[in-house]
This record gives sequence, structure tokens and C-alpha cells, in this order.
Amino acid sequence: MNGKQISIGHRARAAGYTVHVTSGQLNSAGKWARECLGTNATKAIVVSNPTVFAHYGDRLVRSLKAAGFQTASWLMNDGERFKDLRSTEAALKYFASEGLTRDDAVVALGGGVVGDLAGFAAAIHLRGIRFLQIPTTLLAMIDSSVGGKTGVNAASGKNMIGAFHQPSGVLVDVETLATLPKREMTSGFCEAVKHGAVAGRPLFDQTAEYLDRFPPGRSAPASDEFIQLIIKQIAFKASIVRQDETENTARADSRSRKVLNFGHTFGHALEKVTNYRRFRHGEAVGQGIIFAAELSKNLEILGQNEVKLLNDVVHRAGRLPSIPDVGPREFLEALKFDKKLTGGHIQWVLLRGIGKPLIVSETDIPRRAITAAVKKIIKN
Ligand SMILES: NC(=O)c1ccc[n+]([C@@H]2O[C@H](COP(=O)([O-])OP(=O)(O)OC[C@H]3O[C@@H](n4cnc5c(N)ncnc54)[C@H](O)[C@@H]3O)[C@@H](O)[C@H]2O)c1
Ligand SMILES: [Zn+2]
Repeated sequence: MNGKQISIGHRARAAGYTVHVTSGQLNSAGKWARECLGTNATKAIVVSNPTVFAHYGDRLVRSLKAAGFQTASWLMNDGERFKDLRSTEAALKYFASEGLTRDDAVVALGGGVVGDLAGFAAAIHLRGIRFLQIPTTLLAMIDSSVGGKTGVNAASGKNMIGAFHQPSGVLVDVETLATLPKREMTSGFCEAVKHGAVAGRPLFDQTAEYLDRFPPGRSAPASDEFIQLIIKQIAFKASIVRQDETENTARADSRSRKVLNFGHTFGHALEKVTNYRRFRHGEAVGQGIIFAAELSKNLEILGQNEVKLLNDVVHRAGRLPSIPDVGPREFLEALKFDKKLTGGHIQWVLLRGIGKPLIVSETDIPRRAITAAVKKIIKN
């Protein structure tokens, strides 16, 4: 198949999987799926939502049929609030009613919400069947579709139920971004800035320069330059995931998968205090990057120039919703949410410079440094 490929070999698998980054290859998705799944797969169930399926569903289904798959589609409701066990159960019932066997596969067509839920349902149907990812948001292309974290939200919090389940292949067709709302592009670019900030100057500068020339709304998603950026972004995420596939809780080094949570501790708190309504996930991460930079400065490990640079580049991704008018105490309370994910203590991902992440336990950070950063960001 045409397009660029990144091979992702996971230590836990005999065979790795490949991410194809293409422009306009959705029409050949059936052939690609056949290459990924082999000849013993009979059925391919497409999981999507009505918004995405209206744009790209027919083309995908036609292509799968042409490659000899029996296919059917199950659409979840559109929205983060539907990424839950109830939707998962409905998907599983559908898989069973279609007689999906262990030779068959699920094909996720959509953003991170569809990909996370479809992957999780595939991970538990018959104790795990194969699934393919066709991400259609920028965030899903560079982040959520790669790395094998699947799951849904629960009463106890976001992404609290899930499984590590690697896809058998990822197909990125950047042409699908033509219909993506500008705000969603901003959200994806904030995650791209996050990758750059922890990866190092080459990726950070490439992302910053691209945003300088093509801010969301004025970007040319199908350009070769854009494709090169997407490939570098995915390659970075893959390089981290490859050597820490399940995010080993004992690791705190600068290559640990935890570094991908840069900007997320404050970002999650922001999503929480606004009841997950005001911010797209990436937008909250954008504010979280600014917060983490400020905190790093308060701890005297990051200089003012780099704080300013991070601020500038985050804002190149687009306008972010303002920080809500809630007091510092409420934020400090909301920050505790991340403890559940990291076994009792918040593990802050800070920066000693671009490309120099540092994981620090909250117990090693004076409370006043956090409070000062919260107050500063509320004022801005
Ligand atoms: N698994 C992981 O490693 C990982 C990493 C990061 C984020 N996530 C998860 O990803 C989710 C966020 O994903 P997202 O930002 O892609 O949001 P999303 O899946 O909700 O998609 C955003 C919106 O864009 C629409 N859309 C998608 N593709 C479109 C297209 N091509 N044209 C027009 N509209 C389109 C969707 O219907 C939706 O309304 C969160 O649930 C987050 O927890 C997972
Ligand atoms: Zn994220």
C-alpha cells in the first residue's frame, strides 16, 4: 500500500504492528485490513459514531467488502459521556449477535472516544480479538490510536476501566481531517506540543514552526510537510511505548511512559472542575503544559525563557477556553484525582528544559510552589 510506514515492534508480541500514514488511502482500507489480518479473518465489524460514519463509513465498508470481508457496523453515540460500560455492553451484544469469532476483527473508525471503546470491547470479547484503528482526529492519529491503552470512563473517574490491547494495525489518512472542526485540531496540536516538549528540540521546533505557518483553520492537512510532522509525532510516541508498554509503576526515568502525562495532572483537574464540559481534552492539556512549566520555574529547574517559549507555542495551537473562576482550593482538591492513577501520590512530570522531563513525587514538592503556580494560572 502507498504511504509511509512506521513499524512498531512490541516486546510483548512476536510480531509488531505497523502504522501507515497516508493521504487519501481510506479507499484501500480493505486491502490494508487484509494485509494486517490475513486470510483467516472472515468478518470485520466497524465501530464508529454517526458523525464520523456519515463522512467516511460508506467508503470504508465498501473497501472492506471488496477485500472479501463480511462486514457490519455498530455506531455508538457521539461524545465522551458515552465512553462507558453501558456502551461497551451494547457493543459486546452486537458482536455476539453478529457471531464475531476469534478469527475476526473490529475496525475502529473515529476519534479517541471511538478508538478507546472499540479497543476495549475487542480486548474483552471472547477474551480478546484483534482490532484495527483508523483514527480520524488529529489527537487520535498522533496519540490515542498508538500504544494500546484502551478503556472507558467509570463513576470513579475517567479511563478507570480498561486493558492494554495493541491494535493489529493503524491506518492514518490525513485527508479525513478535512472535515474535523478547528477546535478539535487545536486539541490535537496541544498533544503534539506536549510530545515535542518531552521529546526534544527537533520535534518541538518542527511542531512550533508548522504551527507558526499553518495555525489550525489555515492549515493544509494533506501537505507533505504535515504528513512528515505526523510521522515524527507517532514515531516519538511509539519509541516511548515500545520500551514501557504497560507503564511500569516503578519507573520514574525520563523514558518512562509516564512522561507522556506531561501537562495532564493539571489538565485532568481542569477537566474535572469544569465537569468535562468547557475543555476539549487537548485544550485542557494545553493549559496543563503552561501550568507544569510554571511549576518547574517555581522549583528553579526551568528558566523564564523556556516558560515563555512553551506558552507561545501552546497558544499557536489556537485559542484555549479560559480558566474558570474557581478558587485555588478547589483546584488543589481536583488535583488529588490523579492520585488514583499513580498509587497514592501524584507524580508530576516537570521539565528541566525542552526534551528533559523529570518525574517528581508530590511529596518532594513544597506545597507553596504548587499553590503559587495555581494562583498565577488563575490570574492569566
Ligand atoms: N488511549 C490513549 O492512549 C489515549 C490518549 C489520549 C486520549 N485518549 C482519549 O481520547 C479521547 C479524546 O479523543 P478525541 O479528541 O479524538 O475526541 P472524540 O473522539 O470525541 O472526537 C472529537 C469530535 O470530533 C468528531 N470527529 C472525529 N473525527 C472527525 C472527522 N474526521 N470529521 C468530523 N468530525 C470528526 C467526533 O465525532 C467528536 O464529536 C478521550 O476520551 C481521551 O481519554 C486516549
Ligand atoms: Zn492526553
